[in-house]
Amino acid sequence: MKICVIGTGYVGLVGAAIFSDWGNTIVGVDIDSEKIERIKKGEMPIYEPGLSEIVLKNISEGRLSFTTSLSEGMRDAEIVFVCVGTPQSETGDADLTAVWKVAEEIGRNLETYKVIVLKSTVPVGTNEKVKKLIKDNLRFNTEFDVVSNPEFLREGYSVEDMKNPDRTVIGSDSPKALSIMKSLYAHLGKPIVEADFKSAEMIKYASNAFLASKISFINEMAQICERSGADVSVVAKGMGLDSRVGPKFLNAGIGYGGSCFPKDVAALYKTSTDQAYDFKLLRGVMEVNELQKNYFVSKIVRYFGGNLSGKTFGVLGLAFKENTDDIRESVAIEVVRILRGLGAYLKVFDPQAMYNSKKVLGEVDIKYCLDKYEAIEDTDALIILTEWKEFGTIDLERVKNSLKSHVIFDGRNILDRKKVEEARFTYFAIGKRTNGTELLSKRPTGTPGVILKNGD
Ligand code: UDX
Repeated sequence: MKICVIGTGYVGLVGAAIFSDWGNTIVGVDIDSEKIERIKKGEMPIYEPGLSEIVLKNISEGRLSFTTSLSEGMRDAEIVFVCVGTPQSETGDADLTAVWKVAEEIGRNLETYKVIVLKSTVPVGTNEKVKKLIKDNLRFNTEFDVVSNPEFLREGYSVEDMKNPDRTVIGSDSPKALSIMKSLYAHLGKPIVEADFKSAEMIKYASNAFLASKISFINEMAQICERSGADVSVVAKGMGLDSRVGPKFLNAGIGYGGSCFPKDVAALYKTSTDQAYDFKLLRGVMEVNELQKNYFVSKIVRYFGGNLSGKTFGVLGLAFKENTDDIRESVAIEVVRILRGLGAYLKVFDPQAMYNSKKVLGEVDIKYCLDKYEAIEDTDALIILTEWKEFGTIDLERVKNSLKSHVIFDGRNILDRKKVEEARFTYFAIGKRTNGTELLSKRPTGTPGVILKNGD
């Protein structure tokens, strides 16, 4: 099949690479010429395991090419995927400027029948509007169909997810377009959910909002576990083995971040209020997530007697989660800002997100370290903010020899509590009463109001 993919961000670039790997001929389009030149050389604009190998292989085998010209890119295509960004606007809903612009341009350049597929996450009603916009901009009386085909890729695992999706959602009002789309995905042998436009659009938001709810639920469970002496990881394990609950997305931590969950939950809430409905549960999900990082910081502040000036912390993790260099809406970055705002000096390390972090955090009161051990050298505490696997296997003896006081704040429950306590650390995790929390309860309670305000 001949396919055009507009937008070479996470979704578009991974999509283009995998579609070409399936034997299709793909032209990727992006307005950013510098980015296109880098991709052609095999330099990926994002860190995504396995991606550059697939891109280079398919470029060299002639199935994958890139251009900055939309008209050229879509000329011979049977399917045109729209994978442009839909960031959060100031009012909380999705900013669809890029989608509208691309739809108009597609309309102006449409000369033969094509299926136009919206992969970008868009609110209910967008596919219908895109259809109208394309129609209004046609220069010839060309036939076309619009299809909603939301993506469910996780950053850091998107190559894997694209090849092996749990399901494919196809929202369409045309049997012809549906059959073309099915022929693209049929070989995967995975369930295909046929839907109308609005249901397909809603499935994406509902899925992300439900996963975010699972995280906020377990983060609230963590609060009760900590207070009552239960261990949230054990509770999550016990819950997750019930097939109706499932084990995934039950890791308590400092809250969810990234380019999708915060934006999509807010957008769904906005959709509900636009429909004159107050989605109460979602309000709670967002509030819990907002407070979670403050609660974590308050443990650090209280441990150090309410004053972080003059303290130096070794911080592991800046990306919004493991396996990515992405720091968009990263809670780790927010925690770093709060700690710095409270007077601490931070020695930071992340396996992939150093460059991106430096751009937003600058260098005041922050030292960017070459590895995890350099970051903790001669510091007052180890603070873990991202769930990179390599942080879970840190050599505790080396940590002990590096830290001035033997205290660890684990914002991702990534360390083995038993081993950490055996190594005689004071260990603060999320949702676990430990030697650390007992010690904490003997200290004066109360959290300085300042830490409830984010940022420096
Ligand atoms: C998410 C969805 O999973 C994906 O289907 C959609 O297409 C895009 O949004 P992604 O943003 O890549 O993917 O990250 P994900 O792995 O879902 O994690 C989101 C956030 O939740 C991260 O900050 C992560 O640290 C946090 N998280 C995740 C938890 O705090 N606990 C968990 O148990 C799981």
